[in-house]
Amino acid sequence: MKRPIYMDNAATSWPKPEETLTAMATYAQSVGANPGRSGHSMSVDAGRVIFDTREAAADLFGVINPLRLIFTKNATEALNIAILGLLKPGDHVITSGMEHNSVMRPLKAMEKRGVEVSVIPCSSSGEMNPDDVNRAIMTSTRAIYLTHASNVTGTIMPISEVGTIARDKEIIFCVDAAQTAGVIPINVEEMSVDLLAFTGHKSLFGPQGTGGLYIRDGLEGKISPLTMGGTGSSSESLEHPDFLPDKFESGTPNTIGIAGLGAGIQFIKRTGIEKIRKKEQELTAMLIEGIASIPGATLYGCRDEKRQTAVISFNIEGMSPAEVALALDEEFNIMSRPGLQCAPAAHHTTGTFPGGTVRLSPGYFLEKEDVEKCIVALEALAYRGKEPHS
Ligand code: ALA
Repeated sequence: MKRPIYMDNAATSWPKPEETLTAMATYAQSVGANPGRSGHSMSVDAGRVIFDTREAAADLFGVINPLRLIFTKNATEALNIAILGLLKPGDHVITSGMEHNSVMRPLKAMEKRGVEVSVIPCSSSGEMNPDDVNRAIMTSTRAIYLTHASNVTGTIMPISEVGTIARDKEIIFCVDAAQTAGVIPINVEEMSVDLLAFTGHKSLFGPQGTGGLYIRDGLEGKISPLTMGGTGSSSESLEHPDFLPDKFESGTPNTIGIAGLGAGIQFIKRTGIEKIRKKEQELTAMLIEGIASIPGATLYGCRDEKRQTAVISFNIEGMSPAEVALALDEEFNIMSRPGLQCAPAAHHTTGTFPGGTVRLSPGYFLEKEDVEKCIVALEALAYRGKEPHS
């Protein structure tokens, strides 16, 4: 079968680097035991896999103490810990009009429990003014939850500016790095980030079922875990451990996934995050230019590869997003994601609710020829969209 032109890397990256697959196979064949539990050499080796990945991820995000980085099954779980585990009735929180449901749904649930939520409106291209965050702050403001980049338009948010505001006012700053970890440099110290939620299966090139949360020193006591149970530590006690990472890592972890994640991060370090970003920017610029020149196509977002990730949302006149995505798949072997991309709030901002958009998200392993083929396909579909319906 011809290799698909996979443009759905914002949902999950594909293909994975060879070393991700090798690390997982090696783990399954030669390690395989339960980490941090049994004390025999295979269990110690499994623990080493987790330790190494924790160190690699911490290093990538500028986290000084790797134990402050806990593993979760995805960014959604990390954000749920950061929202449900932290907030109390009477707290006020600030978020943006470009958030994914992984922030909006837990916040909506907390609103019903007495948390006040302010949503900062963004421009129709998804950009937020940090001054608006400043203006929304109240004495009861406990936390700010902000995506690093939108999964609908790719628009990159002013993380450092908001981080400075939050730090000045002693407000907890939580960043959703689902779309950026591995492709945009992140340093939690320099960006004043207190909680960093990330997923492993997108730009970190790990498998699905991996992710994590960085927790700044002193915050772990203020956050309740969502799950409790066996940790392999303090087994004599019926009290759940209060130290990191065990407080938030009960039950047998996804060690094979964490092995793959560690290899994905090593791939990024070996390749260079700047090189990955540059390639994705080139492909993004080509797509923006190509789609912008198609009569009947409408592009959303800031349309500037320097101010966005490799996420391009558009619509074609006369066709629904689902029709375009189906035709791209069936006729041109191009994978995209149509609809609301689990981010209805962002689509309200861009003016594309409820119909949504077609989203293309090229990745590091695509080539310019793939993008050229995609633009030719879209030209053909746009032409078809203009034909009178029979
Ligand atoms: N959040 C992922 C996406 O944007 C799944 O497609």
